[in-house]
Amino acid sequence: MSVTCPDLSLPVTTSPNPVPAQQNGPMDPLLDQDQAARVLADVAAAAPAYLGELSTRLVRDAAGEGLLDGLGGPLPEDGSGSPASVAELLRIGTAAATHSSGPRFFHFVVGGSTPAAMAGDWVTSLLDQLAGMSTASPFATAVETVALRWLKELFGLPASWGGVLTPSATFANLTGLACARQWWGERHGVDVAADGIAGLPRMPVLASGYVHASVRKALQLLGYGRDTVETHRRDGAGRLDLDGLRRTLAETGPAVLTACAGEVNAGDFDPIAEMADLAAEFGCWLHVDGAFGLFAALSPRTAHLLAGVERADSVAADGHKWLNVPYESGFAFVREPHRLGEAFGSWNAPYLAPADPGAVDYNCLGPESSRRARALPIWASLRAYGRAGHRAMVERHLDLTDRLGFLVDQAPDLELLAPAQLCVTCFRYTAPDRDLDALNAALGRAILADGRVYVGTTVYRGMTALRPAIVNWRTTAEDVDLLVAVVRELGSAL
Ligand SMILES: Cc1ncc(COP(=O)(O)O)c(C=O)c1O
Repeated sequence: MSVTCPDLSLPVTTSPNPVPAQQNGPMDPLLDQDQAARVLADVAAAAPAYLGELSTRLVRDAAGEGLLDGLGGPLPEDGSGSPASVAELLRIGTAAATHSSGPRFFHFVVGGSTPAAMAGDWVTSLLDQLAGMSTASPFATAVETVALRWLKELFGLPASWGGVLTPSATFANLTGLACARQWWGERHGVDVAADGIAGLPRMPVLASGYVHASVRKALQLLGYGRDTVETHRRDGAGRLDLDGLRRTLAETGPAVLTACAGEVNAGDFDPIAEMADLAAEFGCWLHVDGAFGLFAALSPRTAHLLAGVERADSVAADGHKWLNVPYESGFAFVREPHRLGEAFGSWNAPYLAPADPGAVDYNCLGPESSRRARALPIWASLRAYGRAGHRAMVERHLDLTDRLGFLVDQAPDLELLAPAQLCVTCFRYTAPDRDLDALNAALGRAILADGRVYVGTTVYRGMTALRPAIVNWRTTAEDVDLLVAVVRELGSAL
């Protein structure tokens, strides 16, 4: 029997074995297709209650985590269908998840998800685009191109730079350093992307003590080893010994310099302009890791911390931190756009035809192949709030960080270990005649177990310390005041 397909006006033939509408036994997704809109509506219906409670509930709740056992035993042979499955996931997830997108998660550097970004992320799932190749999705490619252009404008980076979205700042560091490795090979007549690094002289990578673990991990993945970074420190915090760096460069010549814009312990910055001067003088590649610190560019109060970043060769940053878009969201920018294609392009696989002239294949500009359209939440957030909205958010966090620094300074039992800077405040609890490292380590554990606020410990200048970071769009003065109150209450009980 022949019928007409209304959309395409093509003749189609009905199957001699039509799919039954209802069937017991195996739950083939094809039988579930009518449920798609319903289960999405179920998630949307659960959202108001969850989001409504985010600001008041415990950040992490041991009672809720009791439900984790319910996630299941062996793989079920017969599925329960999407409504039941999604209902179960929502029941367990809304109780057992760490509510890290709420306003009192100060651990690590963790943003939340603005309304526009979260909805943009849902659109990403709804459309499920293959975002690497322009033939697969001109739409996803176009959104990524606009998002990258807007991000460069937001950060004051030159429009001429190349860029690519990555899953994280670790991958953005990997992207920038892969370009540096390509550059290093080129200097020695080797195409590293094609022929590898065997036979090349070792690529020196020089940094201050602020170098982030993810830069080391990127080097580890690139074949250089995480421990090959040569750090030049002038104090226990890890600040750059600029003279030492100059001496090394004078002895060894060109190298890769990595600068940290926003280090995790106290929010400090390497002197990027001075490092750019050295890079120019000695013919180096300068990479800047600005995972969260690149957002200092949004406020005239902090933009000076990034002076010189526009002279870098590559810059890495994150969206899932201070842009407040959902995981996974990072971005890499490179001064010379062709470097990305050289480091990551040329698949040499006939079925992966190169982009049409004028189009761009982002899977040839970064480490991923198939990839989701992570540009959509970025686009949605930048479209929704604009430069001014994001600046307002960043400046609120600067104010809240100042407030936290002030409250810590005023409290007789708290000691500020570094000036509160950007979004990080490094301090410790003090008590007479106590081992303060052990006390603060115990306090860190007590805070996490308590769950009202969430903050991690670090070791700063040899001292165990707390280092809350404020980058969540929901965080208010009330949350910061509660943080101080909880730290003091739990500290006094230890
Ligand atoms: C300075 C810096 N660089 C890189 C990273 C790694 O970011 P991601 O976890 O997104 O890979 C972080 C994470 O906190 C960071 O603070």
